[in-house]
Amino acid sequence: MSVTSRYRNAWESFWSEAPEGPGAVFWDAEPMLTAGRHLAHFEPHVVDPGLPMIDLGCGNGTQTRYLAERFGHVVGADLSAAALGHARRADPADRAAYRQLDAADKAEAETLHAELGDANVYVRGVLHQCEPDDRQPLADALAAFLGARGRAFLVEPSQAAGTVLMGLFQGPDGPPAKLAPVLRHGLTPGVVPDDAVPEHLRAAGLTVLASGELPLVTTEYTMDGTRIELPSAWVVAGRAK
Ligand SMILES: C[S@@+](CC[C@H](N)C(=O)[O-])C[C@H]1O[C@@H](n2cnc3c(N)ncnc32)[C@H](O)[C@@H]1O
Repeated sequence: MSVTSRYRNAWESFWSEAPEGPGAVFWDAEPMLTAGRHLAHFEPHVVDPGLPMIDLGCGNGTQTRYLAERFGHVVGADLSAAALGHARRADPADRAAYRQLDAADKAEAETLHAELGDANVYVRGVLHQCEPDDRQPLADALAAFLGARGRAFLVEPSQAAGTVLMGLFQGPDGPPAKLAPVLRHGLTPGVVPDDAVPEHLRAAGLTVLASGELPLVTTEYTMDGTRIELPSAWVVAGRAK
């Protein structure tokens, strides 16, 4: 199965209107606060760091470029052509490769797996945003990317993020400026039940090798100058040895 055209169009129109430049969108935090922290938890479980690294749902590629400084072969993959346009413009040296694909379409994942072989995969803030029916297909496609030797790191807002988001929507000043375009394009931030991500991974035949909590740092601040962070849960997964 693949995503609905409503969902695809929502991302395409969001990225078509998104400003260029670091930190221009709500979740586009500096890699030292995001992928940099995540790698400390991910790398101990990576069996083969020489495998290609796929940044699945890479958006404008901020984390992809960081990964490309550390891994030899990095592919940023996204549903949206406009997102990939941002990512390519921000990477004039072609440190990473970019690819349009629907991560909820297992056949597309199998095609890329046939090209790349087993891969390690980084996923930040993609599954919670999907329509609920796309979550298991996305986990199934993830398993296809990994093959026998790849490992995945996923980080998604946890249930507690719902309360933080609700507070932002209902605050006296309305949602922060960078959250407004997300809503305008019909991308209501979803919240995945805390046990759903591990369950989807297990149903895809993967084993959860490690898990924990880390805040998902955003690029917005409260009125008192505090950076807005969404409570998030991370997991490392792969095929059992
Ligand atoms: C919240 S953004 C996160 C972007 C990036 N991971 C980051 O941390 O900056 C979610 C991204 O996932 C992409 N996406 C959503 N569903 C997807 C799918 N089924 N296949 C591929 N990409 C998808 C969207 O286009 C968007 O760029």
